[in-house]
Amino acid sequence: MQLTRYVPDLPTVVPGWYPPTRENWELISYAWQFFPLLTAAQWLIDWYPQGKTSINSRFNIPGKWAWCLMEIPGMLTVLYCMLTIPRLEGLHAGLPWANWTMVFIYTIHYLYRAVLSPLVLNPSMSPIHPIVFTLAFGWQLMNGLSLGGWLAGYGPTTVYDWAGRLYTIEIGLVIWGWSLMGNIFHDDDLREIRRSALRRQKERAAAENKPVEGVDKLYMLPKNGLFHHVLFPHYFCEWLEWAGFWMVGGLNCAPARTFLVNEIATMLPRALAGRRWYVEKFGEERVGKRKAVIPGLI
Ligand SMILES: NC(=O)c1ccc[n+]([C@@H]2O[C@H](COP(=O)([O-])OP(=O)(O)OC[C@H]3O[C@@H](n4cnc5c(N)ncnc54)[C@H](OP(=O)(O)O)[C@@H]3O)[C@@H](O)[C@H]2O)c1
Repeated sequence: MQLTRYVPDLPTVVPGWYPPTRENWELISYAWQFFPLLTAAQWLIDWYPQGKTSINSRFNIPGKWAWCLMEIPGMLTVLYCMLTIPRLEGLHAGLPWANWTMVFIYTIHYLYRAVLSPLVLNPSMSPIHPIVFTLAFGWQLMNGLSLGGWLAGYGPTTVYDWAGRLYTIEIGLVIWGWSLMGNIFHDDDLREIRRSALRRQKERAAAENKPVEGVDKLYMLPKNGLFHHVLFPHYFCEWLEWAGFWMVGGLNCAPARTFLVNEIATMLPRALAGRRWYVEKFGEERVGKRKAVIPGLI
């Protein structure tokens, strides 16, 4: 598909790196595989100034805008690569539909995660410290370059590169789609806790002519869907989603594999620390046998 034909020439932001040359992309996607080593600190300390464990700091960034701005660079980077690298690489026939399919589903996810969820749907989000913001921004940039380079010309470039892959692409898409719905469903169960509290507050405020208190930092034990079994089913569904994405790209799609591994590396210690947080707040008895993230396992 030759979408680049309809787009004006985009300027090079950082010559050689944004968009990356093939050589630099190889270096980026190789180095990006070692990200899990950087998460060692996350396993050892629970200090993480975001969400449930946010801190009071005058440097804090408002939660909703921080989430939007730190989560969107990956999507923008992939799209930028798709609109620049094919021209630089002389791929005048355009890229195969399967490349664009992966770009499409990745974009759908991040429109939800970076725009719809924080700016439209979430009733409130805790402030985020610039350290977390910077790390997440860097994570997105690296992941966007790693995936974007592969999809935009340094991975498969013709339909022949995708030959014989139709069934695994279809199965991967089905896994991706159901898991995205699972992720949204469980995200929404958390939202409903604050939405319903806000509704109750508004009713009371109207009846008693008092101001609404707000729902910032209001936490309850969620219980619907997979929340019966784990405390972070939205994380679990997201991992399944990116496993489906990797399946679409195929076993040889190293950037999709790195994406999944790096997500697990950063989110698993968060979920385990999150379970400790729930036990401390609500008590071992109320948390019960619920695991952190994978039903029956972890
Ligand atoms: N965290 C990561 O490293 C990461 C990485 C990639 C993708 N994601 C995805 O991004 C989404 C959000 O991740 P997250 O780490 O922010 O999840 P989270 O800690 O569960 O928080 C999600 C949202 O729900 C609120 N919330 C959380 N627990 C609640 C409770 N018990 N009662 C009421 N409200 C509650 C949070 O408010 P507060 O902000 O006020 O706590 C926040 O607005 C997930 O779907 C996840 O899969 C996360």
